[in-house]
Amino acid sequence: MALRLGDIAPDFSAETSEGKINFHEYLGNGWGVLFSHPADFTPVCTTELGAVAKLRDEFSKRNTKVIALSVDGLENHKSWIGDINETQNTIVNFPIIADKDRKVSELYDMIHPNASENFTVRSVFIVGPDKKVKLMITYPASTGRNFDELLRVIDSLQLTANYSVATPANWNHGEDVIVVPAIKTEDIPAKFPKGHKVIKPYLRTTPQPDL
Ligand code: BEZ
Repeated sequence: MALRLGDIAPDFSAETSEGKINFHEYLGNGWGVLFSHPADFTPVCTTELGAVAKLRDEFSKRNTKVIALSVDGLENHKSWIGDINETQNTIVNFPIIADKDRKVSELYDMIHPNASENFTVRSVFIVGPDKKVKLMITYPASTGRNFDELLRVIDSLQLTANYSVATPANWNHGEDVIVVPAIKTEDIPAKFPKGHKVIKPYLRTTPQPDL
């Protein structure tokens, strides 16, 4: 059955550019991003993996490990990493799964035959410390992903994991957040002492509580 939000992210062991990895062990107690790309030695994928490498400190700050995947083999991955480092001015600092037998791609439904029989689409999964899937997005092969958006989602998920808040459209770290409907308006001051606004009885905002 297809994977859904809230499901346990299926565990697996796989060969990667950094050796054999067990997914759940690799994530440890932190957050994770598992993302697939269609193929090695392709232009959009080259820019994507370079972009992720450059965000290493941002992912680390958020206690988040990343791991990439394609159905290419290990030798291709290793050779392509040289090209990524050279052309994107970075050093690839995360493992790339060599999923030649499609074991992981099938586990995560990353091959969409009506898009391509042979290649994984651009899937993204964010996994929480409880190993549950928190986000799934699928992009077409022709569109390189916005990895700043993934950082923004991780910020939102980490905030909402700790406080009774949700984040509004286009929210960014530091901006006001929404108090969830389960909190009564009269209980807001005790829970959110930084203040709040009641725009409608169902739309209450407060400054980001963890700053
Ligand atoms: C790319 O990464 O450039 C790419 C891969 C597959 C199809 C189209 C573009």
